[in-house]
Formats: sequence, C-alpha cells, structure tokens
Amino acid sequence: MRSIIWSASVLLLPSAALAGVVAVGGDWRSKVNVQRNGFYPLDVVDQLEEATMTKVDEYMTKKIAAGKNNGCTLEKAGVRREWGDMTIEQRSDFINATLCLMKAPSKAPKDQFPGARSRYDDFMAYHLTNAGTLHDTIGLFPAHKYFLLAYENALRNECGYKGYHPYMNYDRYTKDPTKSALFNGNATSMGGNGAPDPKYTGLRTSAGTIKSAGGGGCVTEGPFKDYMATVGPGSPVMENVPKNPLSSGGGYNPRCMRRDVNANAALGATADRSYNLITKSKDINSFYNTLLTPPQNRTDPYNWGIHTSGHYIAGGDPGGDPMVSPGDPIFYFHHAMLDRLWWIWQMQDPDTRVNAQVSLGGSGASRKLDLKWLATDVFPVLEAHDGLGGHGGAFCHVYV
Ligand SMILES: *[C@@H]1O[C@H](CO)[C@@H](O)[C@H](O)[C@H]1NC(C)=O
Ligand SMILES: *[C@@H]1O[C@H](CO)[C@@H](O)[C@H](O)[C@H]1NC(C)=O
Ligand SMILES: *[C@@H]1O[C@H](CO)[C@@H](O)[C@H](O)[C@H]1NC(C)=O
Repeated sequence: MRSIIWSASVLLLPSAALAGVVAVGGDWRSKVNVQRNGFYPLDVVDQLEEATMTKVDEYMTKKIAAGKNNGCTLEKAGVRREWGDMTIEQRSDFINATLCLMKAPSKAPKDQFPGARSRYDDFMAYHLTNAGTLHDTIGLFPAHKYFLLAYENALRNECGYKGYHPYMNYDRYTKDPTKSALFNGNATSMGGNGAPDPKYTGLRTSAGTIKSAGGGGCVTEGPFKDYMATVGPGSPVMENVPKNPLSSGGGYNPRCMRRDVNANAALGATADRSYNLITKSKDINSFYNTLLTPPQNRTDPYNWGIHTSGHYIAGGDPGGDPMVSPGDPIFYFHHAMLDRLWWIWQMQDPDTRVNAQVSLGGSGASRKLDLKWLATDVFPVLEAHDGLGGHGGAFCHVYV
C-alpha cells in the first residue's frame, strides 16, 4: 500500500487508517502510487478510472505473461496526476523544470525558426509547421501522445524534472478556475488569469461564442509572468496580436502570454460529458467524433465539444491559437487529459480497443510518426496507441 491522501493541510494518513476506505479492487493500489487532494471529491470519470484499474491490472498481467509488455509494468509506469493532486513540492519541481526549458538553448533549425530562442519554443515552432500531420484523423491521438512524451522527456532529461506530466481534469475548472491551484497565480500555480481586457468579448466557435470570463490580457502573476511567447501567431483568436516578421510565423515576435481563464469553456467538458463520451462511444470513430464535434444541441448553453472546451479554459494567445497553442504550458495539461480520456476508453475493453485506429479520412496502416528535428525516433503510428508498453516500452504511463 503506497497510497497517500492529502488535503490543503497535507493530511498524510498511514496505510492502516486507509484500509477501510480502499478495500475494493485492492491489488492495483499496491502497484500504483495514488495521491488525492481531499478538496476535490472523485467525479464520475475518476470513479470509472479507479474501477477500470482492475481491468488494467489484469490486462498487464496477461501481457507480461505473453512477454509483450516491453519492460513496462504497473509498478514502473510513470504516474500522470491532476495538478491539484500533486504536492506543493512536486508542483514546484515541475514549474522549475518548465522555467529551465524556457531558458535552455533552442535546437530548432535556425534558418526555419530564427524566432525560436529556447527549448521550450522548439515545441511551439514544431507544432506551427507540422499542424497537418499532428492533426489529421489518424494522427491526432497518437501524434499528440508522442508530442507530449517528447515534451515530458525534455523536462525530465534536460531539466531534471523527477515526476511525470500533470493533466487538468476539466471538471475541476467549471466553478471558480481563477481560484484553483492551477490558475490562482501564486508561486506554485501555472500562472494566473490574464489582466482584464474589455475589448476581449469572447471566442467565436462553430457552436456559438464562448463568452469572455473577464480576462484576455497579459498574465501578470505567477511563475510565467515574465515569459514571452516568440514564434507565431498562426491563427490568432484574439485582436491585437502583433504580426510575425516572417510570413511563415517562424520569426521572433516576443509578446506577453495572454489568457482568459474561463469556466464558460470548462462547462462544455464537465465530468458527465466525459463519462458519456467514454461509456457511450462504441467504437473509435464515434469516440473521435464525440470528442471533436460540438454536440448538435441548441438548448445546451455550453455546446462546444470537449476538445474545444479544454483548449479555451485558458485560451488567449498563444494558448488559444491552434497553430502555436503549445506556447502556453497549459496546452500539455489539456492534451494529457485528452490522452487520459482516450486511455480510459481503451481500457474498458483493451483487447479490442488499444489498436483501434480512427478510420475517418483513410487507412493509417503505413503511417509513421516522425517528429523530425524535435525527437529522433520514427515509428509506426500504432505503436503510439499503447500507453503501457508501446514503442518498445517508451510509452509506459498511467493516469490517476
Ligand atoms: C524551485 O526553484 C526555487 C527557486 O530557485 C526554489 O526555491 C525551490 O526550492 C525549487 N523547488 C524544488 C522542488 O526544487
Ligand atoms: C498556492 O495555492 C494553492 C491552492 O490554494 C495552495 O495549496 C498553495 O499552498 C499556494 N502556494 C503558495 C506558494 O502560496
Ligand atoms: C441538450 O441540452 C440540454 C441543456 O443542457 C440538456 O438538458 C439535454 O439533455 C440535452 N439533450 C441531449 C439530447 O443531449
């Protein structure tokens, strides 16, 4: 038993005190270190995930017996946690590694990206020019899984981060996100809201306008208040984003990070919507469509679709610009959450779902994942479908 529970007062319970609470489905808990923040009760997706861990454990046991786990086990898997469930020390470690990446020298080709000044910028620059292969139907989930892994590896291997990439559980940001541990603007948050910009009235989507929640200007509080986005914009969603000196967007265009931390966006990605996505999507194409397409429901005031909602919980520039969204570190929290939802969906029936590939827009049998200068490995797209042993064990994570 390695579980700990903590709350605002960092309440550490000895395992004996927990025994009654976690008696059900026991064995996986001896393999995966669960940390919970008592401030957030488990939502329906968290509960489904916990219930699913027994299946995950069985699946891994079979895989290990068949010699197909590539060295990945539940005990060894990297644990990706909700930001609020991490301890202050873990958050601080993560923030320091992000700041380190923002100072480390760029490895992007200088001729293409004279604007990329740091390792952090490299990921934004890559996303800007490879949006096609990162976002086609076959690539979207696995390519972002690989992109997130490459970023997590940079934090760990180049900047000494000891943990794994956090995710944002959208449902925790539906009430008062500017007061959350993620966005409250204190030294162990991922930065605050943008300053009020009365000219920012909201974001137009195909399903209607996500009304501004009162931000829209520069982030002035927290660890990233001095961070400048460099490359882009690509497809800005705000007014007054300065133009890039190069038509490619790869030139140096330093500007503050702007945000509108917005519950109106998060309300399109509540836990019940994610729960329905996971439990009602019978195949990968319907999972994909439900995630990406706004529900056609005129009486639903938060009709944005889960993927769009996740992007616009912070929005702004560069975060809301689909081409350079990795320029706000929240991007990776959102994509970790999407990867988490995909993984929980897969694990409802791992034998048939792990290799299920979106077939809208053609077959991906021969497709390879290639992040070019950003990360060296080139491998078949299906190897990034398996989060527990895929690509020779490079993918080996659980979400709790
Ligand atoms: C992060 O950096 C700050 C400032 O240098 C330091 O005080 C803090 O201890 C670091 N956090 C961790 C977890 O090392
Ligand atoms: C930041 O806010 C979180 C959430 O309220 C709190 O737990 C944490 O102690 C605060 N950190 C600092 C450095 O004030
Ligand atoms: C449409 O949205 C309304 C308001 O959120 C909700 O009560 C209703 O169940 C939704 N209809 C469908 C078919 O999802």
